[in-house]
Amino acid sequence: MKTRIALIGAGFISDYHARGLQTLADVEIVAVVSKNLENAQKFALKYNIEEAFNDISSLVKRDDLDAVIISTPNQFHAPYAIDFLQNGKDVFLEKPMGISGDEGRKIAEVAKKHNQLVMVGHMWRFDTDTRYIRDTVDSGTIGRVFKTKGYGIHENWGPSGWFTKKELAGGGALADMGVHAIDAVRYILGDPKPAKVYARISTEFGDYDVDDTGILVITWDNGTESIIESGWWHPHMDGPEASTSLFGTKGYANLFPTFLKMKDGEGTVTTVPELPKREDHCDQIIYTRQMEYFVDCIKTRQQPVPGLVEGQMVLDIVDAAYKSAKTGQVVNLI
Ligand SMILES: NC(=O)c1ccc[n+]([C@@H]2O[C@H](COP(=O)([O-])OP(=O)(O)OC[C@H]3O[C@@H](n4cnc5c(N)ncnc54)[C@H](O)[C@@H]3O)[C@@H](O)[C@H]2O)c1
Repeated sequence: MKTRIALIGAGFISDYHARGLQTLADVEIVAVVSKNLENAQKFALKYNIEEAFNDISSLVKRDDLDAVIISTPNQFHAPYAIDFLQNGKDVFLEKPMGISGDEGRKIAEVAKKHNQLVMVGHMWRFDTDTRYIRDTVDSGTIGRVFKTKGYGIHENWGPSGWFTKKELAGGGALADMGVHAIDAVRYILGDPKPAKVYARISTEFGDYDVDDTGILVITWDNGTESIIESGWWHPHMDGPEASTSLFGTKGYANLFPTFLKMKDGEGTVTTVPELPKREDHCDQIIYTRQMEYFVDCIKTRQQPVPGLVEGQMVLDIVDAAYKSAKTGQVVNLI
């Protein structure tokens, strides 16, 4: 039987999810929702989707729907997820999972009560280069990783519209781009828990009530220290989205561009692995794999990873960072 899925949101990222889902033979996209009905109808026409709506109300209680992909402004992630979970649907939530750690905990409570699945769109976990670096770190090749630096920065560019409104987005560049860098390094390090967060966060470029500049220092429970930088409109970025430098006691690993630099006597040797070529940095294949995995989880009833736990860790780090930036103090998480 086909897995029946509805897309909630018909904007930029829903296109990636629709293209991904359409490669899967055993999936049917049954409906699409946009705030603007005309946009929903255009999207439905483009992907041959039967139904288009301008709100979720008629979909929530339908029993011919297995799951939804929620790709709306962040403010609606938690309330929509909760509505669908309470009505027996599995939920894929775009990053960030919600606009606060408390929202994440509420989603988890409802998902557990109703025995439904939640996946969160931390999609760098489905990228080949990221997996290569994770495997390399896991194998011990570069020794104990004591320091990392990760980037979620847009160079000379920044989003507009709802992304720059605190009420709708929850936060600025940290909630938008920083979360990619945070989850990517957590994945590479083998999913440690955050122990402490210190952050400096500010607004340097726009007339909006969200941040466009952030520096975080995260201490993980395994002792590794991670610097995370988030930003929009910066005149320079040290690497593209999720780019991460990992400093180990035996060598160095770099994600985007992806290479290893090993200590060798008094010098170093650089190796560039042969990995599949990518068309774009945020390549469609990453999102397609993500959908393939979500549908597999729906069929086999396994809790997806990244899911509730991974989404929650990111929200807790983001909350702690905003708190630290406000108080000037380190925030302890364990
Ligand atoms: N993983 C990634 O690479 C990635 C990239 C971009 C965006 N995102 C995330 O995806 C989500 C959507 O971002 P986007 O760039 O597609 O935004 P967008 O503005 O392009 O699209 C948002 C869509 O949501 C719809 N919408 C707005 N309010 C709604 C409501 N109340 N009910 C139903 N639909 C509503 C809009 O009509 C629009 O179709 C965000 O959470 C964002 O953080 C993830």
